[in-house]
Amino acid sequence: MSSPNRFWRIASRPTGEVSAANFAWSEAPVPAPGAGELLVRVIYLSIDPVQRYWLSPDATFGPPAAPGMPMPGRVWGVVEKSPDSRFRAGDLVAGPGTWSQWCTLPVAMAEPVPDWPGIPLLAHTSLFSMQALTAYFGTLEIAQLRKTDTVVVSAAAGAVGSLVVQIARNHGCARLVAIAGGADKCRWLREKLGADHAIDYKAGDIGAALDAACPDGIDVYYDNVGGAILDAVLARIRPHARIACGGFISHYNEAGHAQGIHNFSMLALKQARAEGFSCFEYVHRADEAFATLRRWFEEGRIGYHTHLVDGLERAPDALAGIFRGSNLGKTVVQVSAPDRRTAP
Ligand SMILES: NC(=O)c1ccc[n+]([C@@H]2O[C@H](COP(=O)([O-])OP(=O)(O)OC[C@H]3O[C@@H](n4cnc5c(N)ncnc54)[C@H](OP(=O)(O)O)[C@@H]3O)[C@@H](O)[C@H]2O)c1
Repeated sequence: MSSPNRFWRIASRPTGEVSAANFAWSEAPVPAPGAGELLVRVIYLSIDPVQRYWLSPDATFGPPAAPGMPMPGRVWGVVEKSPDSRFRAGDLVAGPGTWSQWCTLPVAMAEPVPDWPGIPLLAHTSLFSMQALTAYFGTLEIAQLRKTDTVVVSAAAGAVGSLVVQIARNHGCARLVAIAGGADKCRWLREKLGADHAIDYKAGDIGAALDAACPDGIDVYYDNVGGAILDAVLARIRPHARIACGGFISHYNEAGHAQGIHNFSMLALKQARAEGFSCFEYVHRADEAFATLRRWFEEGRIGYHTHLVDGLERAPDALAGIFRGSNLGKTVVQVSAPDRRTAP
């Protein structure tokens, strides 16, 4: 291949907010796949809050991410070269790649993208993704959602949160309260996704807003943010409440864990449970979750919502934008053109 491979290297570890200055736009020849590796032309690149966490010196999980290395990220793309009979040139694959136009993927970690009629590749980046597994099992298994529950979801207009809201609506619950930043997101959550109430946490006192939306307390909290919102919810839980601790985005730009939780004792006082979990624990049950999500999608009962960013060169700004709430739904960078089979 004559054109070079363009990619983003990590230039420095962020202190505080991540920004484009933490990345360096780089060029190199298109990589030659080693033994047991595929060469993949990237179509879509996933941009996720956890990528900021990977850049922290104290990151305890995730791929290696240190200055000088290509920035890691999940990709969906087309196999260009394969040494393995399980993949042929032209197949669609997903896997742990890099912020690049072309990357190599170990065959052992490459996942074929199922060719489901009426389901474009873009849907696999959100509705049939790791975020979807997180939302599905976090809501139904970790939080043990019941039809009588008052449910609160934070970061509700993001990739995971927007699916949690729709899953809770489809499963059934007594009251569904979404928390997000800004009036437009709150309107979208009420009018398009079916939340009963939406709270703009940037507009005023979160405790007073929760009191108004959940006058009898909270049975289930799907937590994407940690910090002050978690504390405000803890103060209002009902007996035997369940808190699904899916993420803690309000901490990711901090050095260390500066924010403390003041109302942890409420778990004992209300005989409640808070449980952390990872989507990776549920990969072996992806078929089960995706079958339900696909049926709901075909019945028009769930949608996928993508914040599609055009061009690999905008990937650092897309990551920084998540922390300002620039996205509605799943943030995805379009790196190269989808073909006929993959077009939305
Ligand atoms: N456990 C797992 O296996 C797993 C898997 C995937 C993701 N996660 C976690 O789940 C959470 C959501 O991920 P996602 O992919 O849905 O993210 P996302 O689509 O990027 O959305 C995150 C949203 O969080 C909000 N936000 C940003 N900073 C905030 C702050 N300081 N306080 C409150 N809200 C803030 C922003 O919206 P607003 O406009 O509303 O502020 C932003 O759009 C993250 O914590 C992520 O790390 C966990």
